[in-house]
Amino acid sequence: MLANKTSIISPSVTIGISTKVKELNRQGIEVTSLSIGEPDFFTPDKVKQAAIEAIHANKTKYDSASGLFELKQAIVDKLKRDNHVSYDLDEIVVTSGAKHAISNALLAILNPNDEVIIPKPYWTSYPEMVKLLNGTPVFVNTKEENSFKLQAAELKALISNKTKAVFITNPSNPTGAVYTKEELEPIVKMCIENQIYILADEIYEKITFDDDFTSIASLSEEAKNMTITINGLSKSASMTGWRLGYTATNKKLASAMSAIQGHLVSHPSTITQWAAVEAINNCEADTKHMVDTYHSRRNEVIQMFEDIEDLSIVRPDGAFYVFINISKLKAYIDTPDSFSLEVCNRLLDDYRLAIVPGIAFGLDDYVRITYAADMETIKTGIEKMKQFINDLKK
Ligand SMILES: Cc1ncc(COP(=O)(O)O)c(C=O)c1O
Repeated sequence: MLANKTSIISPSVTIGISTKVKELNRQGIEVTSLSIGEPDFFTPDKVKQAAIEAIHANKTKYDSASGLFELKQAIVDKLKRDNHVSYDLDEIVVTSGAKHAISNALLAILNPNDEVIIPKPYWTSYPEMVKLLNGTPVFVNTKEENSFKLQAAELKALISNKTKAVFITNPSNPTGAVYTKEELEPIVKMCIENQIYILADEIYEKITFDDDFTSIASLSEEAKNMTITINGLSKSASMTGWRLGYTATNKKLASAMSAIQGHLVSHPSTITQWAAVEAINNCEADTKHMVDTYHSRRNEVIQMFEDIEDLSIVRPDGAFYVFINISKLKAYIDTPDSFSLEVCNRLLDDYRLAIVPGIAFGLDDYVRITYAADMETIKTGIEKMKQFINDLKK
């Protein structure tokens, strides 16, 4: 009795792992968790206070589908200040998280069988979202030597008359790679020439360590017109559970997305939106503290991996993940199924370490850990990985 589309998507591997960890915790079993993509900081107090004040001031009614006027204004100001792009208020749609922003965008642009190009490794939900909306994911095999960043030639090879959009995740989840302006320019040029929408997922934009972040829409007026910028507060203001994201696009797309959202969800919680005004306008110092902490952890983690000869990593320049090449362990593990899943299952069952198999991101020779965890937990997790390798070799 279910819709056919329910059978073409697979449940989220990452959510599956956290459910398993929670179940072990419920049984009183302690697990070292480096799996979840969530800041290990609390939401800043002033953001919480803004939400409490909104409740007491009875700001709890329906509002406009595309979001509160005050929040859209804060987003427009932020995009101008931080990203150097000018938008009008009616080009912003406030959503329930970045995930919802992406589904709004796909709903607004996809016709059945339209193709969406997805560079591998990808954020785990992109292909499933495209399939759910009757589109066809087309995968690009990016190269580890390019830190898995998409190259214009790789994109060109896959463009067809059905190509509607391409995902660019910058900084990347799962690799932490950050594109420079020079790396983005040829990709964006190709998208403009071929009239392909750029789904610019910039949810980790604030978390970069070495290079300045370039927002794709800032490259030119034409780039802005073809780009659907996806962003939100889950990572930058540690507001994962509040569910607040947004898109910045051209007016036509914004109006379509606003209409879609108006029928499907109305708008994100008004209380969350008032909290978001505070987060966008007044939480720069809180974000800086979080990013400085990730930065120093990143440096320590890179050093730790230098001592593990069987594993290599892609140097992360942003976000809070490390993507680890585990292919050398294939010499010791034989499985007919997913290799990375087997490694992660063994780590969880025998060493009580939760990490994410690369298969969740489309690449089975890798695993992902997060350093959005305290240094003690990170060290314990990496020690457990070392122990696992030593035991494999016995
Ligand atoms: C690349 C990327 N995009 C989007 C999201 C979704 O963010 P949100 O929690 O705001 O829906 C995530 C969350 O992990 C992510 O890593």
